[in-house]
Amino acid sequence: MPTAQTPPEPEHAVREHVQSPAGVRRRLLNWFDKARRDLPWRARPGQTPNPYHALVSEAMLQQTQVATVIPYFGRFIAECPTVRDLAEADEQAVLRLWQGLGYYRRARNLHAAAKAIVNDHAGRVPDNVAELLKLPGVGRYTAGAIASIAYNTRAPILDGNVARVLSRLCLIDTPTDATPTQKKLWAIAAGLVPKGRPGDFNQAMMELGALVCTKANPTCDACPLSKQCKAFEADRVADVPVPAKRKAPVQVDHHIRAV
Ligand code: ADE
Repeated sequence: MPTAQTPPEPEHAVREHVQSPAGVRRRLLNWFDKARRDLPWRARPGQTPNPYHALVSEAMLQQTQVATVIPYFGRFIAECPTVRDLAEADEQAVLRLWQGLGYYRRARNLHAAAKAIVNDHAGRVPDNVAELLKLPGVGRYTAGAIASIAYNTRAPILDGNVARVLSRLCLIDTPTDATPTQKKLWAIAAGLVPKGRPGDFNQAMMELGALVCTKANPTCDACPLSKQCKAFEADRVADVPVPAKRKAPVQVDHHIRAV
């Protein structure tokens, strides 16, 4: 029983924004069971997820589209099938496997993370957000994704796709990058993620953002959440999320002296 000392469950906070969190979870998971893409890093229903695959795929997906990542992921896992293989690999070989994906710092961080996992975690990818966050290149989003997808830990995620889905669902019409907006979106994500199937729920949110609740042409007719979507109800889907505020231009005066 909650007492005065018990901190409020995120579930309480989310009710302010979502009338029926249970309904959102049920509809979204039912939709995911039918619409989920078979991706090479994704465990099929009934399979045990591979945490190392989650680590590698999330590093690749940080700045890159799913379709681009697929062949890179396949080659990477063929060359470095386990976290130990990656930890022992030569840096040049790792960078070669990354060639064409760009943002090479991700590859260096992933390599360093594999070494840390072997040295400090006996070769087991950590299963909780706090330990994952200590790994190089792992931020709040990636930590939540790995913990939930690979270990079914009840951890939220918030990336561009999820932020768009939640902004529309809850009609959050303040600039996406503003700190209070981010805080609100993380709180909603935390309140929605269920105890059962948190990894599927998080993947379903990403999948909905990628396939249905898209930036430019959302297909609300096909959306499992349209009945609960506040932006849809208000006919404001095109208005949210509100893009990041542009920084005011800085005036630069150049004084050129003839010599
Ligand atoms: N984008 C980032 N992580 C992803 C994942 N695990 N599946 C699909 N798209 C993603």
